[in-house]
Formats: sequence, C-alpha cells, structure tokens
Amino acid sequence: MSERKPIRKAVFPVAGLGTRFLPATKAIPKEMLPIIDRPLIQYAVDEAREAGIEQIIFITGRGKTALIDHFDMAFELETTMRERAKDLAALEPTRIQPGNLATVRQQVPLGLGHAIWCARGIVGDEPFAILLPDELMIGAPGCMKQMVEAYHEVGGNLISVLEVPHEEVSSYGVITPGARNGALTEVLGLVEKPRIEDAPSNLIVSGRYILQPEVMRTLEGQEKGAGGEIQLTDAMARMIGAQPFHAVTFAGKRYDCGSKIGFIEATLAIALERDDLRGEVRAMATRLLAS
Ligand code: G1P
Repeated sequence: MSERKPIRKAVFPVAGLGTRFLPATKAIPKEMLPIIDRPLIQYAVDEAREAGIEQIIFITGRGKTALIDHFDMAFELETTMRERAKDLAALEPTRIQPGNLATVRQQVPLGLGHAIWCARGIVGDEPFAILLPDELMIGAPGCMKQMVEAYHEVGGNLISVLEVPHEEVSSYGVITPGARNGALTEVLGLVEKPRIEDAPSNLIVSGRYILQPEVMRTLEGQEKGAGGEIQLTDAMARMIGAQPFHAVTFAGKRYDCGSKIGFIEATLAIALERDDLRGEVRAMATRLLAS
C-alpha cells in the first residue's frame, strides 16, 4: 500500500425533498424511511464507517432535523430503557462520537454539485468520500470499502459504476470507459443524464465517490447543466486528464431506493438475507404470491 492521504470524511447530500414518496415524506426526511428497522441513512453511514470514515458531513435543508436527532443521544429513551433493564444494543449504530457529525444547510436546491460545494469549508484540503443514501449498496466488504481499497492502489478520483439496461441511462451520470483492469476502469469522459442515443455506454455512476479537494474549486462558479442544476458530474468531467480518474465496478447488490419499486425490492431482498426474518418472510411471500 502506498502513502496516500487517508479518506477520513464523507459527505451525505440529504437536502432533497423526497417528492416521489409523498405523503410519507411530508413531515419526515426521505432518508429516514426505514428498510425494515433501519432508516436509509443508517445503511449509508454504516457503509462509510466500515470503510474507515471518521467524520460524517450532512448537507441538509429545512425539515431535516430528524436526521440529526437520529445520530444524537436520546437521553429520555436511554434512561427509561435502562430503568426497565432493556437491551440498548439496537441503538449502537446511531452513536457518533461528539464532534464527528457536522451539518451544513444547502439553503437553495441548486443541484448535487452545489450541495457538495457547500461542504468545502469542512472538507478542507483532503480527499473525501460522497455517498448518496438513495442508492443502497449491499456487499461484503461494502461499496465504499471496496473503493477505498482501490483508492490506495491508484489514487486520484474514483466513482462506483454499474451496468443498467440502455433505456435507463438518461436517469444517471454515464461514463466513457477506457482501459479495464479487474474491477477498475479508466474514465475517459462523463456526461449527466444523456439522451439514450447520445450515451457513451451503459455504465452509470451509482452514487459513491472518492474525490480530490480540487473538485471544490472546479465547482466554484460552475454553470448549470442537465435539468438546470449545478451538476457534480460536470465538475468531475472537467477534472479528467488533470488527475487520475477511475471507475470501480462494485461487487455486490445495489437497490435504487429513490424509486418505490427499488425500495420494495430492497426491503424484500434484505429481509430474505436476514437470519431473524428469512424463514417467515419467505413463507409469507410464497403465500401472497399463490393467492
Ligand atoms: C445523481 C447524479 C448521477 C448519478 C445518480 C445516482 O443523480 O447526478 O450522476 O448517476 O445520482 O443515483 P440524481 O439521482 O440526483 O438525479
């Protein structure tokens, strides 16, 4: 392993309004919707910590306080549970050392690139990770850990990619792939939400990034792109050539929890993986499908 700066910080853009899940998300953040008994944000934070991330940075907006409360100490709850001799183990993943959770409000919904730029003061001059919690990545090791391992090999900038059917590419950032070496593919170009006929491949950016701090300067004053938003993909595209840029094909499963079908799929798939639920869920699903 070489002497690269460790990846200690991760940015989680969580300012989105979650309109696709209304009315469920009218009063609670979409990142708090649970897959069984863990909110979506918990899966992303767990994945980051498994990869060695120490500092969690949430880019939030109005109405997102529940996300901060979730990772705070719940004094009344914990005291009452202790008095009743209840096991507090389920709260363990929600504990973050004081000082290791920072939040910034995006104030205006100008796009993912703008959300990331809002973290520039906290990120400072070191490489950092980005995790989009809508994309639920399940693997052993997790997606971010696989990326950190790749980062120690090649350095520079990395994004996770996966293949989707050609007709779906217009919903995503898409790469122009170069030379491939195992799970690593050189990135020669990047385009956000291309028309199907313009897409350079069917390899899409799947919501995990390790970027050099120069991306903050690149985002500075950047023009609006696809959908009239300031796009992270456009800033990354401008960095290709100046710094190494690789895609990591994630070995694991990915669920797009930004859509209802993806959310249901994730719930069912994860229930079927869990030792405490598998048997009953399988029997229940079989029963439902037979009726
Ligand atoms: C964002 C990124 C896009 C990426 C996608 C993954 O798009 O801009 O490049 O492929 O996340 O989910 P959004 O889903 O915010 O439109």
